[in-house]
Amino acid sequence: MSKKILLTGCAGFIGSNFIKTIASKNQDYDFVILDALTYAGHLPTIQTDIDENDHLSFVKMDIRNKEDIDSLFSKEKFDGVIHFAAESHVDNSITNPNIFVETNVLGTLNLLNPSLKRHKDLGDQFKFVHVSTDEVYGTLTETDPAFTEQNQIEPNSPYSASKASSDLLVRSYFETFKLNTCITRCSNNYGPFQFPEKLIPLMISNALSDKALPVYGDGQNIRDWIYVDDHNNGIWATYLKGNAGEVYNFGGDAEKRNLDVVKTLLSIVKKPESLITFVKDRKGHDWRYAMNFEKATKELNWKPEVTFEEGLQRTVNWYVENQKWCQEVSST
Ligand SMILES: NC(=O)c1ccc[n+]([C@@H]2O[C@H](COP(=O)([O-])OP(=O)(O)OC[C@H]3O[C@@H](n4cnc5c(N)ncnc54)[C@H](O)[C@@H]3O)[C@@H](O)[C@H]2O)c1
Repeated sequence: MSKKILLTGCAGFIGSNFIKTIASKNQDYDFVILDALTYAGHLPTIQTDIDENDHLSFVKMDIRNKEDIDSLFSKEKFDGVIHFAAESHVDNSITNPNIFVETNVLGTLNLLNPSLKRHKDLGDQFKFVHVSTDEVYGTLTETDPAFTEQNQIEPNSPYSASKASSDLLVRSYFETFKLNTCITRCSNNYGPFQFPEKLIPLMISNALSDKALPVYGDGQNIRDWIYVDDHNNGIWATYLKGNAGEVYNFGGDAEKRNLDVVKTLLSIVKKPESLITFVKDRKGHDWRYAMNFEKATKELNWKPEVTFEEGLQRTVNWYVENQKWCQEVSST
């Protein structure tokens, strides 16, 4: 019988790419996709993949609902969980932090508890991979070395605080109960199917319709950018090979100032830089993120394969051809 993995949050950006590039191609596992279909989740993105693959199924469910999650775990005998589901937009966490705690912290706890029962049955055959973010480490100056897994977590936004809290819960379930957990922490993802609230799709969509491109502060903040497929390969390698209780960093080896990213996008779509509009800086805006991913390279044989230039060109092409998708997800 095939092993069965619960994938949470896979109607969103990273998860839907995971379905297309990894889950739909991997016949050795049955994947149960769980998603509450919030504003950020769009089932049509993955509907064809589900329809065409017998080993993929979908359940609409909210991880905040403990009873529903418990009954799903009783019904489906999962061999593992890859937990993508989260409220993921920093700006929303500043205006409405409560749902970030409910989904990211309590929702994660609701998955950890029934996982313990499966761990009791299966031992370390059962695996729980928690998808987290570089933002839990806080911020770097221009000259600091990149974050390693040894850095303390010092989150600065309600979003990153909620992710850090869930990381600590996952860690505690390894330390206390020996649940076979791994945590992945990754830098800014970009690629197809990203909700157009995030920097790259927002800027492409605005540029294509000659709208202003809002850039926070002076645009000098630095982010490391990773193509979404590279991140998903890292998550899957963690599921297959990650050691219990470990954290793995993933990055794209592509540190860029926000303003430079926006200017590069404008030059690809052949629109003028006069569309750039500087807006009041985000509260508590982290200055710089950078990731040291030597551990993932050494232990998981992972490294990013897609250069920023190549990934950005692919991404722009996709958004140019799929503005209809952007309009659809924005209107639901
Ligand atoms: N996007 C990035 O650059 C990035 C970087 C590092 C880590 N991450 C992490 O990766 C994961 C996925 O991020 P993303 O960018 O795909 O996010 P996303 O916002 O695009 O998708 C999140 C998905 O989770 C679902 N969801 C939200 N609340 C839920 C709930 N209560 N119950 C069930 N499903 C719920 C949504 O419907 C959506 O499909 C998140 O955990 C995020 O913290 C993201």
